[in-house]
Amino acid sequence: MAVDLLLGLQWGDEGKGKIVDVLTSNYNIIARFQGGPNAGHTLVFNGKKHVLHTIPSGIFHDDATNLVGNGVVIDPVIFKKELDKLEEQDVDYRKSLVISRKAHIILPTHRLLDAASEASKGKAKIGSTLKGIGPTYMDKTGRNGIRVGDLELDNWKDIYRTLANKHESMISFYDVEIEYDLADLEKEFFEAVKVLKSLKFIDSEEYVYQAQKAGKTILAEGAQGSLLDIDFGTYPFVTSSNTTAAGACTGLGVAPNQIGEVFGIFKAYTTRVGSGPFPTELFDEDGETMGRVGNEFGATTGRSRRCGWLDLIALKYACQVNGVTQLMMMKGDVLSGFKTLKVCTAYKYKSEVINHFPYNIEPENVEPVYTEFNGWEEDLTGMSEASQLPKTLNEYIEFLEKELEIPITIVSVGPDRKQTIFRKR
Ligand code: GDP
Ligand code: IMO
Ligand code: MG
Repeated sequence: MAVDLLLGLQWGDEGKGKIVDVLTSNYNIIARFQGGPNAGHTLVFNGKKHVLHTIPSGIFHDDATNLVGNGVVIDPVIFKKELDKLEEQDVDYRKSLVISRKAHIILPTHRLLDAASEASKGKAKIGSTLKGIGPTYMDKTGRNGIRVGDLELDNWKDIYRTLANKHESMISFYDVEIEYDLADLEKEFFEAVKVLKSLKFIDSEEYVYQAQKAGKTILAEGAQGSLLDIDFGTYPFVTSSNTTAAGACTGLGVAPNQIGEVFGIFKAYTTRVGSGPFPTELFDEDGETMGRVGNEFGATTGRSRRCGWLDLIALKYACQVNGVTQLMMMKGDVLSGFKTLKVCTAYKYKSEVINHFPYNIEPENVEPVYTEFNGWEEDLTGMSEASQLPKTLNEYIEFLEKELEIPITIVSVGPDRKQTIFRKR
């Protein structure tokens, strides 16, 4: 069976966790392929909210296996906290959670390096979640990293010490004050590693290959969003992994010709958390309303998310890079009550009008050109069928489908599992 992918098409937080949870009943295996605890994926069901950072969003379904793939970076301390929360919910994760031996480990000193790097950048900081993501991927590509499989070696603590010492000397190169007590951090880290080691480590590419051969259905769950991709995002204001479809191939060991559906998720407007350009960002009451009604606060850091209109140029680019086959539009309910909605349908780029996503999208280079739409007054949150959706919302959806040439098969009208409307292709 081909592997289906589910990816965020904007700057993250599109609602991936919610939709993976909704789709899990159709899949045997849910697999994370990149990112780490910088992600915060929210699931809401039975009146309760759950936030996952490293653990795949299929974990609440008894009969799905949840795989943390080789492309993921794991912080044992955060991972343990996630497990503790699952235990409180009586989730039997021991039988359903498996971890790739090739996934890399985030050390306490990776987090410190992240903090030192950000502090040294001052105003030019990335706005990182400070989870040690960048330094861990740097050690991976620099061929210095520690992998999950290394934890099974007798001398892994020696390997750890050598790397942590190196990190400490690197921290001292930054001209910033970072206060820390490594002994304390290590105590917590080693205890968490013990818990991690009690879980099932696997050779995940072989596992995925055999699962495919046996006809198992697999959904790969992306983290972050396409505009945060290390290659195709708004560099340097990006994360350190490939968040786009190709990342699923390298992050799980799935061949490109084995990819099936590519589900692309986007919000009916746009948000971004952290620094970096955002052409359709709003600084007015409309932006404030989106943030308030949409409860736009980071699921990992609690920071408020910047809000703005939907950017169709950026969305088209993300669909192209990922080969999206089906779209899912989230949070349409948040736009109820806006008299007029705007969608950016072109960029004014250095006095020329363009329809593609250029190298520079900073405000001095790009000005959005908008097309206006009539809004809808109706509260969508109680709706469950496509036939109930207001006419003006259907016009908005149909315009996007026509421009993107991809069907919108799911419209989400609230955070709960049940607030999900399926549309016919
Ligand atoms: P993820 O990182 O892509 O999984 O998204 P996050 O969990 O970081 O952020 C999405 C937020 O929107 C969460 O608080 C969800 O509970 C919420 N959410 C998801 N879908 C909808 C929706 O259709 N409407 C509303 N109002 N909230 C939604
Ligand atoms: P999910 O999976 C939104 C952003 C950070 C920062 C930049 C780099 O929940 O959609 P990093 O910690 O990777 O060094 O941060 O990327 N970022 C996210 N923004 N959602 C996420 O994940 C994010 N993960 C990282 O805010 O701007
Ligand atoms: Mg999130």
